[in-house]
Amino acid sequence: MLSNKIQDALNKQVGDENYASHYYLSMASWCDKTGLHGSAQFLYAHAEQERDHMMKLFRYVNDAGSHALVQAVKEPAHDFQSLSEIMDRIQSPVQPSRCYDLP
Ligand SMILES: [Fe+2]
Repeated sequence: MLSNKIQDALNKQVGDENYASHYYLSMASWCDKTGLHGSAQFLYAHAEQERDHMMKLFRYVNDAGSHALVQAVKEPAHDFQSLSEIMDRIQSPVQPSRCYDLP
């Protein structure tokens, strides 16, 4: 079983990975409706990768005998000015992992 501190940090990271997945999905949708289908496919793949990250952490927490929590996801932006703006945002849709701050 994980300590409460580790469990809480991993659950927060689960939420961040989920948010990142939603963010990429929203950007992919904008690209699709704008006719940028190749960019949309790239972003859909990123959305799936972030969900995979979330699920790895989620399963790890439960496999360790702790409790993985499903959290509400903040609504991501839906409208963008350009593909260039999206590429700028791709670099940091979420904060760096909280897990780096753990002792
Ligand atoms: Fe991730």
